[in-house]
Amino acid sequence: MQELEVSLNERSYFIKIASGLLNDAGALLRGISRNNKVMLVSNPTVYSLYGQKALDSLEKAGFTVHVALMPDGEAYKNMDEALKILDEGFACGLERGSTVAALGGGVVGDLAGFAAAIYQRGIDFVQFPTTLLAQVDSSVGGKVAVNHPRGKNLIGAFHQPRLVVIDTDTLSTLEKRDYYSGLGEVFKYGIVNDESFFAYLEEQVEQIAARNKDCLAYIIYNSCRIKSEIVAADEKEEGWRAVLNLGHTFGHAIEQLTGYGSYRHGEAVAMGTMAAIYLAWDEGLLPEEEASRIKELYRKTGIPIVFPELNPEEVYQAMLNDKKVVNGRLRLILPAGIGAFTIRDDCSKEKILKAIAKAQSDCQAVKFGG
Ligand SMILES: NC(=O)c1ccc[n+]([C@@H]2O[C@H](COP(=O)([O-])OP(=O)(O)OC[C@H]3O[C@@H](n4cnc5c(N)ncnc54)[C@H](O)[C@@H]3O)[C@@H](O)[C@H]2O)c1
Ligand SMILES: [Zn+2]
Repeated sequence: MQELEVSLNERSYFIKIASGLLNDAGALLRGISRNNKVMLVSNPTVYSLYGQKALDSLEKAGFTVHVALMPDGEAYKNMDEALKILDEGFACGLERGSTVAALGGGVVGDLAGFAAAIYQRGIDFVQFPTTLLAQVDSSVGGKVAVNHPRGKNLIGAFHQPRLVVIDTDTLSTLEKRDYYSGLGEVFKYGIVNDESFFAYLEEQVEQIAARNKDCLAYIIYNSCRIKSEIVAADEKEEGWRAVLNLGHTFGHAIEQLTGYGSYRHGEAVAMGTMAAIYLAWDEGLLPEEEASRIKELYRKTGIPIVFPELNPEEVYQAMLNDKKVVNGRLRLILPAGIGAFTIRDDCSKEKILKAIAKAQSDCQAVKFGG
């Protein structure tokens, strides 16, 4: 088993990573829980695959478990569903010392975490992430949220989990699209934060496409390592943590304009990253050959990036609804060479529109993912 600590003083917690680890989830939770009641939040898809395993493990460790399911899909990461989960908590007698456990991808994790953050002013919360995206990103760092019709994750909180249990075996059942969506978040760590990790990804494109287990274990461990360091240094995103939003302001706009249903989050982020690369190149921050290396990584791994036919102006307007707007100006994370980044709030609207249009035409022309 591999282990990492997210150091946040009294809110520090461990991320445990291993094949088959869901069987030990109950025993691991036993070590830190304050009472024996757990509300296990999941969706029918994930629950049918891994629910019994999680339930057995928790019950074997002496927990009384209430299962609360939300419908599957980003479109359900909303206030109505959060209220239903809270209702279930009250109905099953969840107390202040009880725990909410999220079994699923980023959607279940974000919504269950949000419910835990506001239930009786906040109760314990643990993550059992089952998608690549959740294992490398969303289960770590305590950002929990639901969407609002006006934008992604506009209602939320910072509520750190008390434990993250990553069972890498769960990735074997993931649909291809969801696997690639997770890669969209993995690549950002290499692009803006860690050149040697980027080089590893370049070397391993074939193993990545083949979901090689050792390669995935390395990717998950290192993604969590990079994210943990960033979160420990800047929990509330007052500075460095913003780096994790590479491609996200563009991506969130695409998700919102397409009704949170057509694209996976990581796909939208990958499209957004393309736009960020063009903008960085246009601003003279990213040399041509490094921009090409990044595009090649996406192309070779076959991440499907087919930009929807949206009007760039419409995308730009939707971007202005994002949380990263400061004093009416868009704050964008741009790669400044591989492994480095800069935050810019002075890019002209004209250049941003150009970057969106260029990402759109190039993604069609190159046909990432075929
Ligand atoms: N909190 C954060 O810091 C953070 C970071 C990144 C992304 N996010 C959020 O994460 C969400 C996206 O998460 P996601 O990509 O995991 O999507 P998701 O949760 O919708 O999961 C994708 C699909 O895979 C299914 N699934 C989950 N695990 C499976 C498994 N092991 N086998 C087969 N199918 C499985 C799900 O039911 C779903 O249909 C977005 O809402 C995004 O905003 C949050
Ligand atoms: Zn993301």
